[in-house]
Amino acid sequence: MATEQGMDRVERPYLAGNYAPIHTEIEARDLPSAGAIPCDLEGVFVRNGSNPRFVASGRHHWFDGDAMLHAVSFEGGRATYRNRWVRTKAFLAEEEAGRALWTGVTERPDFTNPRGPLKDTSNTDVVFHAGRLLTTWWLGGEAYVVRVPTLETCGTETWGGRVKTVSAHPKVDPVTGEMMFFDYKPFPPYLTYGVVSPEGELRHLTTIDLPGPRLQHDMAITERFSIFLDMSMMWDPALLPQGKTKVAFFRDKPTRFGILPRHAPGSEVRWFEASPCYIYHTINAWEEGPRVVLVGCKIENPLAADPNNPKGGRPAPTIGFLRLEPRLYCWTFDLDTGQVKEEALDDTLAEFPRMDNRILGRRSRYSYSGRFAEAPTLLFDGVVKNDTDTGRSWAHRYPAGRFGGETVFAPRTGSKAEDDGYLITFVVDEATGESELYVLDAANVEAEPVARLAVPQRVPTGYHTWWVPAADVARQRPVG
Ligand SMILES: [Fe+2]
Repeated sequence: MATEQGMDRVERPYLAGNYAPIHTEIEARDLPSAGAIPCDLEGVFVRNGSNPRFVASGRHHWFDGDAMLHAVSFEGGRATYRNRWVRTKAFLAEEEAGRALWTGVTERPDFTNPRGPLKDTSNTDVVFHAGRLLTTWWLGGEAYVVRVPTLETCGTETWGGRVKTVSAHPKVDPVTGEMMFFDYKPFPPYLTYGVVSPEGELRHLTTIDLPGPRLQHDMAITERFSIFLDMSMMWDPALLPQGKTKVAFFRDKPTRFGILPRHAPGSEVRWFEASPCYIYHTINAWEEGPRVVLVGCKIENPLAADPNNPKGGRPAPTIGFLRLEPRLYCWTFDLDTGQVKEEALDDTLAEFPRMDNRILGRRSRYSYSGRFAEAPTLLFDGVVKNDTDTGRSWAHRYPAGRFGGETVFAPRTGSKAEDDGYLITFVVDEATGESELYVLDAANVEAEPVARLAVPQRVPTGYHTWWVPAADVARQRPVG
């Protein structure tokens, strides 16, 4: 076993250490805590991530694997942990077969697979909207509805049968209650965009013209606009006609930002050009008079094997062929003059940014991102809080050998100020698997955690998170 795991560290690093899947689904009430669990923290913290039930042979990419949710619900100063796989159609089919039925995303897709060439895992993001917690997939898949806090899979959301697939990272407007989503495909239409009403009705659906297929992972919203990304890293268009999906980075191709009035047809999109890069995650965008400001994490050299990458410097972690060297960055688009201003905000390598979603689309000041450890794989040795007004930053370092995940912002009950609340993330000891849920004071991230809750099983490293306030838990709608 040790040999096998040792080999995986070399050949399949995202199946080893704390990336290794777990195979138990448990519920644990009254989690013991170092530090009192705050009584003004009421709701459910949910985290999505890849946790393969059956590992396919061949190359394994961290983004392969079935969705497993880990959740901690808070009520009256007490906390309960649960974890469940999302019962996707693919998960159920493999359960029935007792084996993997798809290859990983970095293997050549099997177009003869009767269930489709790619496994829709729903393993990436999680968002609450219109009374439903939805899980989504980075390559664009069905949106699954999961009930909190039980984590029971209730079916899929198709918005009246009109939306088959959506990408990860829909955006919920905290004021209007609308949800904006996008979907991208390797065939036309390459980019689809939609708006869902606060009641869960599809209000707007349009396509946006692109010169070819692109690899958007995120979008952004302001009060009036939705913003789309057309970046310099994409499937090599020269190879696509041969059925090959090889990702290439074109240093001479500007990154384009498409700004579209929220309810306008895609033909009204206006493109702004900036320097070549890749962006996994945006943080926020807002309007300042005639200007639109976007803050996000910029990667200038996103491919590990690119011979044109600058030499020297600190090695960046890789996931498969991807090289992760993201830094906080700001783009300003002048709608009057068409000019673009670009500005680096922080040199710290950090990603999986979160903010106070109560002001998404409005001017914000603070963001909270996972700080990269010096490691060949993606590990966060702390969380960094950035103040984009002043340029200041603060960090909370986890103990040596312990790594965290995305830190969600959970407002204190009744709070109004942007950082008046908690940051929540799982922190795991790489050597022992001992897992804790950290609750930090968002206004004072450098301080000792407010509470550290002991989770009675290892929580593998995962992806995106959501905070479901108690009021949203209470207003969940059944499916069907
Ligand atoms: Fe993401």
